[in-house]
Amino acid sequence: MITYRTSRRTKGFGNIVVLILHVFTVKGGMEFKTRVKNESDIEEWEKSEAYDDYIGFITAMNKSVTAIPLNKTLILSDEIKKFLRILNMIDDWITEVEPLKESCRFGNKAFSTFYNLLKMRLSDILSNEILLDDQQYVTELTAYIVDSFGNPTRIDYGTGHELSFCMFLCGLYKINILKQSDSKATVNVLFSRYLEIVRRLQLRYQMEPAGSHGAWSLDDYQFVPFIWGSAQLIENPDLNPNLFVDEKVVQLFKSKYMFLGCIDFIMQVKKGVFHEHSNQLWNISGVQSWNKINEGLIKMYKKEVLGKFPIIQHVPFGKIFQFKQCDKKKTFATSSTIKVSSQSLLEKLKKPDTLEPNIINK
Ligand SMILES: *[C@@H]1O[C@H](CO)[C@@H](O)[C@H](O)[C@H]1NC(C)=O
Ligand SMILES: *[C@@H]1O[C@H](CO)[C@@H](O)[C@H](O)[C@H]1NC(C)=O
Ligand SMILES: *[C@@H]1O[C@H](CO)[C@@H](O)[C@H](O)[C@H]1NC(C)=O
Repeated sequence: MITYRTSRRTKGFGNIVVLILHVFTVKGGMEFKTRVKNESDIEEWEKSEAYDDYIGFITAMNKSVTAIPLNKTLILSDEIKKFLRILNMIDDWITEVEPLKESCRFGNKAFSTFYNLLKMRLSDILSNEILLDDQQYVTELTAYIVDSFGNPTRIDYGTGHELSFCMFLCGLYKINILKQSDSKATVNVLFSRYLEIVRRLQLRYQMEPAGSHGAWSLDDYQFVPFIWGSAQLIENPDLNPNLFVDEKVVQLFKSKYMFLGCIDFIMQVKKGVFHEHSNQLWNISGVQSWNKINEGLIKMYKKEVLGKFPIIQHVPFGKIFQFKQCDKKKTFATSSTIKVSSQSLLEKLKKPDTLEPNIINK
């Protein structure tokens, strides 16, 4: 028996996945289901292949955008362009769904309408756009991307949804759809576009922060853009960390650096004094170098997001992200049915790529 997520996060969608997956399990596919059922399973997750792959991805992307600002001209591959088109479509669907007029401080119910549209349309689109013999990969990728935009019942959004999107991106590398040469654009084009979309969703449907710890957390909604954003600022001679809380500096550089884009959004949505509503970030602005901030943030991410049961309990594992124990000598191990070498994702992305993508961005 296949169980998808047990939580109300994916109510409705679960049944569809159960039906689809049933067919594939009969054909010898792999179960796609949540594996972290209680606090003590977190340790197993941290030792899993999935965890190793995910950290490898975060680190590899971090490395690829080190000292690379958002406005650097990049060459976009057809694959990047394809997923950018899909993100642009999602943005159009937001325009299509007007918020309800009823006044509610948090959670406009029109988000559920948007979510249902997203769920329905994305499965068709991904089935047409991702051409793989094995439909289970498409099913799993679809589940991750559908879960990337927020919860339709609670009308909230948080680092768990952001995690889903990063797993979607990482999954595209795992099954060889994205290549090493796509890594800068994965962050500076796809992830950056994703951020614009979720910010628009948060504002338009007044989405509540999911599981936020208020002033004690880094940010109400995101985490990963602070990691990759701080990498962009490494080796920057002009922008000392103590300047990122200065509104004028933020206005000047918000389109150039992802980190400052995040600060700009916080300044737009939060009232009051920065060091009060965002104390954690305020403290971080006192750190000497972007390198130290970057290293500190990844440690914090492992602890505050990847190590948290309330977040990981919702993550499904299957064929792309395998829950089995990671063999340390053979990281980025994949099932025998995937023809990918067993080198780590990091190694894989370090490998010079001979394929020249064709068209220039912007
Ligand atoms: C990010 O990449 C840079 C450049 O390779 C490196 O100095 C830094 O330690 C990396 N940080 C993490 C968290 O991997
Ligand atoms: C990026 O923007 C900065 C201004 O913030 C500018 O000085 C720089 O030349 C731009 N780089 C590119 C590649 O457009
Ligand atoms: C920020 O630093 C101050 C002083 O060290 C400390 O009291 C406070 O708890 C820190 N804030 C956070 C959110 O960690």
